[in-house]
Amino acid sequence: MKTVAVVGTQWGDEGKGKIVDLLAADADVIVRFQGGNNAAHTLVVDGEKFILRLVPAGALYSNKTCVIGNGTVVDPLALLSEIDDLKKRRGLADDFLKLSYEAHIVFPYHRAIDQAREARAGKRAIGTTGFGIGPAYEDKMSRAGLRFDDLANFQSFTEKLRRNVADKNAYLKAVLKGKPLSGADMLEAMRRARRRLMPYLCDTGEYLAQAIAAGKRVLFEGAHGTMLDIDHGTYPFVTSSNCIASAAFAGTGMGPGQLDAVLGISKAYTTRVGAGPFPTEIKGWLADSLREEGVEFGSATGRPRRIGWFDAVLARLAARVNGMWALALTKLDVLTGIDPIKLCVGYQYKGNRYETMPPGRHSMDTAKPIFEEMRGWKERIGDARSLEELPANARRYIERIGELAGVSIAIVSVGPDRAATIVLKNPFA
Ligand code: GDP
Ligand code: IMO
Ligand code: MG
Repeated sequence: MKTVAVVGTQWGDEGKGKIVDLLAADADVIVRFQGGNNAAHTLVVDGEKFILRLVPAGALYSNKTCVIGNGTVVDPLALLSEIDDLKKRRGLADDFLKLSYEAHIVFPYHRAIDQAREARAGKRAIGTTGFGIGPAYEDKMSRAGLRFDDLANFQSFTEKLRRNVADKNAYLKAVLKGKPLSGADMLEAMRRARRRLMPYLCDTGEYLAQAIAAGKRVLFEGAHGTMLDIDHGTYPFVTSSNCIASAAFAGTGMGPGQLDAVLGISKAYTTRVGAGPFPTEIKGWLADSLREEGVEFGSATGRPRRIGWFDAVLARLAARVNGMWALALTKLDVLTGIDPIKLCVGYQYKGNRYETMPPGRHSMDTAKPIFEEMRGWKERIGDARSLEELPANARRYIERIGELAGVSIAIVSVGPDRAATIVLKNPFA
């Protein structure tokens, strides 16, 4: 297969970064298609850790092209500091990255509005990352947004930005009781950033079309996860973009017939950062111990992640809406020593049993998980590189997850490092 999309099947942080970095070895072009620096993808190579927020996880190789597509919203200063860090640590060539002219710019007023709204919402807060992603997508949809394309004519860019700052300041002051921001500071920062950003700007849709026509292998890197998708997730406790595989089309300009396969990523258990329903959530010492063992603290904000058992209802939903070819199961090593291990096989809701999501997503607020228990294992599994090297109970667990999700398991990850992986089926093979 030549074009493959990797997407999260849960509430984010499934280990997409690790799997994209691994598969990128066989790809030519690696593409982000939605979201912004609310994403945080951790890569560990030979013990060295990298956290990528906007740059696709192909950046650790010297011979790949990374593309940030039109469906993303990009904080230019965050992007430049990420580029600087990567260049310093990896000595990347200047042309390693292409940024779509049509991507929208995230400004300080987006962050200020995001944070002020969350503070005002109190107990009703979504628990956003506070990076202004929702307000930036709002501006895109209301056609008030500025795109990198607008930087070409700095005079008209200046006029539009001044108008936006005036509008946002009025809203910030009157409604959110926040402090107004300086438009002059923003313009000055953009004037400086512009010179550095221009060389990266590209008609990325055309670039990708040519790459695909030339037979290059293209890997699409989803951010967040299916349950954070604006349409299919646990609305309103979601992010402000579509993060399922079909977003790769609108978010890059590639046509639907051109995607060969979708690989869903799932933890061997479940985590969630921020508020919202979580039927299989675990509280108390067991959650604390899994959080500790799995280092389940948000890479974007440092917040402790909520912990729960694997949920097959979510896996089936993700398999359906993403048209999933197979699943990569990550963090299996974290379950070592847990016995029994619970798996949610369905929900009990209003007296009925459901194998797929009960009608109306608010059903998740009260649905009760139906659990099945499996025997655990005690052996450390971080060095396993084939299924045969895993304890029999770990193999049974993997097999059961594949059965419940209705898709085959392509990859099993047993540690954060690129090397700590069992590849059963490589989509690019
Ligand atoms: P992403 O947002 O989906 O890319 O995931 P994050 O990088 O935010 O969170 C996943 C975390 O789990 C990171 O700290 C990874 O280094 C780590 N990780 C990924 N796969 C494994 C695994 O198989 N075992 C363990 N122990 N850690 C893993
Ligand atoms: P990656 O790509 C985990 C969550 C936030 C919050 C909700 C809305 O690393 O998997 P936003 O700032 O997007 O408006 O916040 O979505 N969220 C994530 N949780 N991983 C992510 O990305 C997330 N991106 C957004 O915690 O609950
Ligand atoms: Mg993450």
